[in-house]
Amino acid sequence: MFEFRHGSLHAESVPLEAIAREFGTPCYVYSRAALAAALSAFQSACGGHDALVCYAMKANSNLAILNLFAGMGAGFDIVSGGELARVIAAGGDPGKVVFSGVGKSAAEMRYALGSGILCFNVESPAELERLAGVAGAMGRRAPVSFRVNPDVDARTHPYISTGLKENKFGVEFDAAFGLYRAATRLPQIEVIGIDCHIGSDLIQYAPLIEALDKMLGLVDRLAAEGIRLRHLDLGGGLGIRYRDELPPDVGAYMREVFERVGERKLKLLFEPGRSLVGNAGLLLTRIEYLKPGAARNFAVVDAAMNDLLRPALYQAWHDIVAVSDSGGPGAVYDVVGPVCESADFLGKRRELAVSAGDLLAVMSAGAYAMCMSSNYNSRPRAAEVMVDGEKTHLIRERERPEALFALERLLR
Ligand code: LLP
Repeated sequence: MFEFRHGSLHAESVPLEAIAREFGTPCYVYSRAALAAALSAFQSACGGHDALVCYAMKANSNLAILNLFAGMGAGFDIVSGGELARVIAAGGDPGKVVFSGVGKSAAEMRYALGSGILCFNVESPAELERLAGVAGAMGRRAPVSFRVNPDVDARTHPYISTGLKENKFGVEFDAAFGLYRAATRLPQIEVIGIDCHIGSDLIQYAPLIEALDKMLGLVDRLAAEGIRLRHLDLGGGLGIRYRDELPPDVGAYMREVFERVGERKLKLLFEPGRSLVGNAGLLLTRIEYLKPGAARNFAVVDAAMNDLLRPALYQAWHDIVAVSDSGGPGAVYDVVGPVCESADFLGKRRELAVSAGDLLAVMSAGAYAMCMSSNYNSRPRAAEVMVDGEKTHLIRERERPEALFALERLLR
């Protein structure tokens, strides 16, 4: 949905130059069609099976995106009360919400239970105890699945690997069985499922299948004990193409999943984040200065690490392309922002034929991009625009400087 027409990069039918003119830069641009296509591919891959796709909204939590996905029947994987508030504000159904995360507060539990969420993905015995207390005080039963840590190597960046013993996530595989038995004896708890999520941006799905096999083994042991689970939640994790990776095919992955689940009466839940939104967005930025040097040439742009942290934090690669051919001479540049840190780069050693004032598009910026932005260096957050065919919609205004300190107070 992002392609060159007559030498100029378009989002669907709209030239990015027009978007920059109307909304300014830096600006995130999303394609509605690309978002819808990614979710619908995932949903269709579920075929006729009993399944629910719960979008891991931490990847991009803009209300317009949530509203689009909610309208298509998606549920949501949340990790905070703030995310639940967003789901509700966007018209999502709390009855399709699963709540993950190792540190749920009592207030968040009350809010989620009161809203009628589908399931708490409980990550520790201490959390189970707190949840039972909260539910008891509300005269309610809390629907629970345990997030089980299968001790499987997701073979991805260590910062986004979550399914190894040394990671903080989930309950230990060997302890899970005992925990299920204990939980079924708690009247405030209704045990309904099992969950795992081993990591993000997986380029092969084999580790997910390895985790699935371990989960199914546990499901069967529990069933033999009379503890029948209604659903199995396999988390997210499918990678996307940032550069030249060959990401896993959703259809092939799902076929393998359903084949292994076989005749078991289990609803399947999935929590994809990146694979639904990652390649449906880009970050549009303008070159402020070209700064040639003896060791490096720099293209200093108006977006920075506060807008897109992934290169600085994970040395992540995002393609960077000139929005139109300016006819400038080609050279190799480090594309950097105005922030006062040497880690403030969006890409290193990129060959670009550009001049000062030109627009660049930082690709694959739909996931873990705007949602990880900050106000570092008192930089207002970028605008967000959704393109739908020939139409553009401003889905988040550019932050105003006054908003940066509106919550601050002088001493009295
Ligand atoms: N479910 C749970 C419990 C998760 O923690 C995550 C992501 C997902 C689902 C979605 O995973 P996905 O389908 O997006 O791989 N900021 C990092 C990614 C962190 C992922 C955190 N958890 C990045 O920019 O690469």
